[in-house]
Amino acid sequence: MISDKGPWNKHIDKTEENHRKISGTDMVELATKYGTPLYVLFEDLIVGNYKKYQQSLEKEYKDHLICYAVKANASNYILSLLSKLGSGADVASEYELQLALNAGISAEKIRANGNCKSESYLEECITREIIINADPEEELKTIDSTAKELGVPAKINLRLAGFPIKHITSRAIMTSSDWSKFGIDIKRASSVFQKVLDMDMLIPNGLMVHLGSQITDISAYHIVLDTLINLSRDAQRAGFDIKEIDMGGGLGIQYFGFEDWNTIKEKIKTTRKENYTWANEFIGYEYNFDLNNLEWIGEELSCKYTPDTFIPKLLNEKFSANKTFKEKLEEIGSPRLVIEPGRSMVGNAGVTIAKVCHVSKTPGGENIVHVDLGVNSHTFGTIVPEQLHRVEIANDIEEGEHFETFIAGNLCFTGDLLCKIKSKLMKKPQRGDYLLFYDTGAYSDFFASNANLFPRPAKVVITKEGISKLLVRRENFSEIFGRYEL
Ligand SMILES: Cc1ncc(COP(=O)(O)O)c(C=O)c1O
Repeated sequence: MISDKGPWNKHIDKTEENHRKISGTDMVELATKYGTPLYVLFEDLIVGNYKKYQQSLEKEYKDHLICYAVKANASNYILSLLSKLGSGADVASEYELQLALNAGISAEKIRANGNCKSESYLEECITREIIINADPEEELKTIDSTAKELGVPAKINLRLAGFPIKHITSRAIMTSSDWSKFGIDIKRASSVFQKVLDMDMLIPNGLMVHLGSQITDISAYHIVLDTLINLSRDAQRAGFDIKEIDMGGGLGIQYFGFEDWNTIKEKIKTTRKENYTWANEFIGYEYNFDLNNLEWIGEELSCKYTPDTFIPKLLNEKFSANKTFKEKLEEIGSPRLVIEPGRSMVGNAGVTIAKVCHVSKTPGGENIVHVDLGVNSHTFGTIVPEQLHRVEIANDIEEGEHFETFIAGNLCFTGDLLCKIKSKLMKKPQRGDYLLFYDTGAYSDFFASNANLFPRPAKVVITKEGISKLLVRRENFSEIFGRYEL
């Protein structure tokens, strides 16, 4: 039974009418006021996550920079909030860059990512002297020639990949192993150092990697950091300056407690008998036609680290040569440590509310709750089928007879399920009920589109004063049709 709300436990409460209240706000009142589907963020939780990173870095490693990954949840309000706290930004396009600059984040605190940067994005970065995480290797020539045209040298980190790590998260969001569209192959690093040094307009600044997202295994970070430190030595010998090591983002969040998550993974194994997953697939497992040998290769939805425990664990562990990473970083001149957290900054700080339209059964007899939220507006469900969230009925949180069900969206295809694994509700919902999905603060509107011409949802924040504030309006008819030529 999933009754433990994990990181939410100390922020949740209920109203006299049995509605879910979070950080003092009645979720049902909010849904009535702004309509559904609705994304809700909590300022105090975002600030709390940022401070956990900041305080632990302050204690463990003086020269650091936190660059919030704008892609995880983009809004002026969040960026201004984080900017005032001292955060920088990881941006992945000229548009994210503009949002970060508008929020007052200074150019030296921005790191420019992307595997297919446009001319205008590169020009903007070079002119503003923003550090570019060069990726792929072929981009070095483009950056060099653009810098020549502008007459301004470009500061670059080399983004690397090809590290000996596998199955640390879902394939689609793994960005640092052999199969990755991102990064320069670590085996080519030495020759690339020389290549950079031979180009007139490139200023070497450091090395960068982004492991992937929802990483819960700290040893993956250790393997990668160890390799980066060794490569830094090679770089320095070649004359390539290592002013910083950028470890990217990736730290996972707790969607489920350890026990609950293991129970879910075990139940997926019995799906052939229990119809626990969509089309009885072994979602998240490598199947290989051997039912007795299923290997988990998907996301781990239970993470025992939070920002304040992750940083000391990362830096104080002895990994090789009986030295901690802090000691090893000192040996290469204590470069600045940059991190680019997204999900771990906002994921546990947001929920989504949707309205129940019907409760029905498939012709095969499976329960289906139909809601007004399509999979395109619900986290990474479109690319990570094992992405599952705690769900409850916001307008009636009393426990009843438990109800296991698939939850379907309102789009016109059968795969439009908010997760391809069954969810467990405290009771059977009814038409008009509100479903509350937890831990949806990161990447919820990432794929939001006008599929079936539905408007993209609205987003609100509950401020530290407990007031709801609209961050993004729900699209209206004229906005949806505004782009159409007659
Ligand atoms: C380069 C880069 N940095 C940081 C992040 C943020 O990752 P996460 O949200 O897992 O922390 C991403 C996510 O895709 C990324 O591509």
